[in-house]
Amino acid sequence: MATHAPNLTRNESSTTDFLPLKGTDHVEFYVGNARQAAYFYRAAFGMSLVAYAGPETGQRDRASYVLQQGKVRFVLTTALRTDSEIARHVDKHGDGVHAIALWVDDARQSWLETTSRGARSIQEPREFSDADGRVTTASIAAYGDTIHTFVDRTNYTGTFFPGYQTVKEDHIARPVGLLHIDHIVGNVGWNSMNEWVDFYAKVMGFSLYQHFDDNDISTEYSALMSKVMANGNGYVKFPINEPAEGRRKSQIEEYLDFYQGPGVQHMALATNDILATVAAMKQQGVDFLTVPHSYYTELQNRIGKIDEPIEDLEKLGILVDRDNEGYMLQIFTRPVEDRPTVFYEIIQRKGSRSFGKGNFKALFEAIEREQALRGNL
Ligand code: FE2
Repeated sequence: MATHAPNLTRNESSTTDFLPLKGTDHVEFYVGNARQAAYFYRAAFGMSLVAYAGPETGQRDRASYVLQQGKVRFVLTTALRTDSEIARHVDKHGDGVHAIALWVDDARQSWLETTSRGARSIQEPREFSDADGRVTTASIAAYGDTIHTFVDRTNYTGTFFPGYQTVKEDHIARPVGLLHIDHIVGNVGWNSMNEWVDFYAKVMGFSLYQHFDDNDISTEYSALMSKVMANGNGYVKFPINEPAEGRRKSQIEEYLDFYQGPGVQHMALATNDILATVAAMKQQGVDFLTVPHSYYTELQNRIGKIDEPIEDLEKLGILVDRDNEGYMLQIFTRPVEDRPTVFYEIIQRKGSRSFGKGNFKALFEAIEREQALRGNL
């Protein structure tokens, strides 16, 4: 799905993009109880249930709920039997992201291009069809148990995927203005960041968009390092984090302990009106991280004039950062499940292409306060 992301001049070379991506197609989570998880994303995040597959539709081993808001599309899948890949994934990781599906024109070609460059195949190109047409998918392995699925839906007119039943109306969903996925962050193990940066560069043709070292991202206690990889047109951005040495346990290490390995740490969801979006999400029960009052007393000096009243930002705990192209507003939820693993960022970009470097210190101190409360710092 297209984002507002600008073209990256360094990718506009004469070499053609061997993996043209039209955006993120969907993100599939494996969860312990998809019906209840779906209720949370509908009531709290305001996503609409648009399609369903399960025993009633002839799918015997799993149930999947497709949720959508703007171009953000999540699929929540649960196992109906103990002996399954889904149940094993949930047993090991808790609820988490299994597949980051990418929207392409040619899934077979995407699979050929990536596997010929060293990607491990998870699923060879396969066509699925029903009365609404056909969809071709193919999958490759990414970090940990996470996979990338290439989805070609050029010849499909149905709501989501062959075999899914369309849900006409969702009376539970209360939309909050989420538009699209801005970026999806992966946490990988000690000293593994560059290995995965190389994977995205060599196997998928991405290039380095921004990077942060442990001087940028460290507090008194813990540290991490991060590099942001982006595809050719900039529609798909994957920051990759690894833990760095600090006096205490890095927040990335806490994630790796509880997720039992590498995986998706957070997804940033874009809005055009962060004040309204966050107010609605809070009202609907989403918990966000808070920053101290001192953050806002220093804000005006740090970022200059902005459209939003600072007292409104402080009331909601929204952070602001500026670079030479503009500014951006962001806020982070607490983990959305009991294991301290997956969380969300809500982001509004006003010209800036940054990831909030100026907020890292305030933010990570907030994360560490929570980590200490859990006894994991
Ligand atoms: Fe982020």
